[in-house]
Parts: sequence; structure tokens; C-alpha cells
Amino acid sequence: MKEKEIVLSGIRATGNLHLGNYYGALSKFVRMQNDGIYDPMFFIADLHALTTNPDPNDLHANVRNIVTEYLAAGLDPEKSTIFVQSDVPEVSELYLLLNMHVGIGELMRTASFKDKARKALGIKSGSEADDDEIEHQIVGAETNKRVNAGLLTYPTLMAVDILIQKAHKVPVGKDQEQHLELTRRFARRFNSFYGVDFFPEPANFDFGGKPVKVPGLDGSGKMGKSEGNCIYLIDEEKVLRKKVMRAVTDEGPKVPNSPVSPTVENLFTLMELTSAPEVVQQFRDAYADCSIRYGDLKKQLAEDILKVTLPIRERILELRNDDEYIGRVLRRGAEAARERASQTLREAREIMGIRKFY
Ligand code: ADP
Ligand code: TRP
Repeated sequence: MKEKEIVLSGIRATGNLHLGNYYGALSKFVRMQNDGIYDPMFFIADLHALTTNPDPNDLHANVRNIVTEYLAAGLDPEKSTIFVQSDVPEVSELYLLLNMHVGIGELMRTASFKDKARKALGIKSGSEADDDEIEHQIVGAETNKRVNAGLLTYPTLMAVDILIQKAHKVPVGKDQEQHLELTRRFARRFNSFYGVDFFPEPANFDFGGKPVKVPGLDGSGKMGKSEGNCIYLIDEEKVLRKKVMRAVTDEGPKVPNSPVSPTVENLFTLMELTSAPEVVQQFRDAYADCSIRYGDLKKQLAEDILKVTLPIRERILELRNDDEYIGRVLRRGAEAARERASQTLREAREIMGIRKFY
């Protein structure tokens, strides 16, 4: 029988999962797992989380949060390999090896690095001097502590997560596409330098639709942890309702068939993800004939979001203190992930000439 294609993805252990993570990533993981045609692997990226120097106890708690949320949302250890990145030490070794073929220039030009470096150095985006300024400050003696080398080599580590499992499909949001492009480039470069056909080139995966971007409730473009505008899967009913009722809107349409403002369109986008199509249509029609009341729209939206999140929340609460179960899942996941990883690492060392004398 032909081997199933490996699907692999991960989420950084930086906090609780929100609706953006759910619709952009986790719900796709669950669907791919249940399709039964892939060999799925999902992990918690704790090493990647270290790039922002978290408090050690927070980091540990966040790994637990994400495993629990994976399981509560429907990832099933009988069908998927679920593991923690740092439980596969082979990743760290291949990261060192692959870095020998990665240019610091290409890493410094990566959008996510420039973004994070800019934030760390307190440089506003959009200025002409941006790139020069960032480079200057990174090598500057007084600031060199603030942008760590791990942040620069973040894409190498992500490429290794993927390549060490020889994954073909990597379901991620749009913001991760540049990292995937780099992964393909590193794979090609390695293969051609050593004259081998070793690493497959992975592709993003999105069930044919366009990649979703879940908007924030504050009128901003994107729901994100650092934006502080998230609806979390773990949110209590009361808290969630309050967040939705406080969502930014506008004065409402004055004349029929007015264009929808971006803030209100955000609410419609959320509705399209969570509500039945006829419900969305009903509110779109009400907008068009100016009879819409945003209070009603928000009530409906809160109701429909709760239908998705409350069952997940209940399972999170059930699972979260079950150390025995979580431990069992992660031990089993680590064993399976290490099996593939150690074989790839062994072969990569051999290819590169790191060979034993004894
Ligand atoms: P955050 O932006 O909150 O820090 P992460 O960067 O850890 O979230 O993202 C983890 C996964 O969730 C990635 O695959 C990312 O593409 C996806 N994701 C995060 N926020 C959104 C969003 N608002 N819409 C769609 N996908 C998202
Ligand atoms: N960089 C990804 C993010 O911020 C997380 C990640 C790390 C990842 N390694 C990966 C995603 C490998 C897919 C495959 O969301």
C-alpha cells in the first residue's frame, strides 16, 4: 500500500487559543485528521515560543493549555500524532545542521523577523529608513541584547519541524506562507548541494477555499494575541457575550443599499464563520433596507459563537487537570515523532559527512 502523505502543523505555546487560531488552523487540523487519507502530526511549538523569552512557568502552563485545547477541539490521539516540539531533541540537532545552509541575509529580509525586530527595538513601521535602522540597531553595541539570534533563525527551526518529518502538507494561515516558501528553498538547496533527493518540498493546504483571516472585534483587521482583541475558546459565557456586545460598529446605514463599513463587515465575516447562511442573509438584508439593529446582530453572533466554543470549553475544563491522560498522549506522540525524526537526522548526518569512527 502507498504510504499516506504526512500532514504537519504546529502552534506556538504563547497563550490560549482564540477564534483566529481555531478557524485559521485548528479546525482545519481536525478536518484533515478526520478525512482519514493523511498521516497527521500536530505539535506544540515550545521552542519557538522561547524566542520571546517567556516566564518559564508561563511557558509550561501554555504548553498544557494548547495540548488541552487541541484535544478538546477534536484532535484524537488515535488518529493523529500529538506531541511537544522539545520532546523531539532531533529537531534541535537538525536545526544546527541546516543553519549551515541558511543565509543571514535571507533571514533578515523575512517579514516576520523585521516585524518582531522592529517591535523589540521600538521602531515604528513605515518609515523609509526602516531596514537600515533595524540593521544598524541590531549590530549596535547597546541594543544587541534585544533582538536575539533565535528570532533571526526562527524560519530555520520551522523548516526543520517540517523537513525532519518529511511532511508534504502544512495547514497554516496566510501569515505563515513566507516561512513555507523559505522551507521549500532550504529543502531545494540542501538537495542540490549534496546531489540528493532527500527533503520533499511542502505546500500549504486549505481545502480549496481562500485562506481565512478572522477579524478582531475592535475594528482592527486581525484577531491576534498581541492585538488584545480575542475571543478565546476558553472564554466563559458571560465574558464572551460582553466582548461581542462591545464590538465596534458605526452609526448604521442611513440610505438603502449603503456600502458596509469595514468594522461592520468584520462582524459579518465572523457571522459567516459561525452562523447559518440564512441568518447571515437575514442580517445582510436588514442592513440593505436600513432596518438592522446592531444589538440584535451582536446577540445572534454571540449565540452562534457560543454554540461553537462552549462545548469545547467544557471539554477543556474536563481535561485540563488530567495529568495522567495528557502525559500518556504526549509520551505516545513523542515516541512516534522521534521515530521518524531520528531516521531523517541519521540520514542527514550521513549525507553531510558527519560519520562515526567507532
Ligand atoms: P497569534 O497571531 O494570535 O499570535 P499564532 O501566530 O500563534 O497566533 O498563530 C497560530 C496559527 O493560527 C497560525 O497558523 C496562524 O496562521 C493562525 N491564525 C492566527 N490568527 C489568525 C486569524 N486572525 N485568522 C486566521 N488565522 C489565524
Ligand atoms: N510559525 C508558526 C506560527 O507562528 C508555528 C510553527 C512552528 C509551525 N513550526 C511549524 C507551523 C511547523 C507549521 C509547521 O504559527
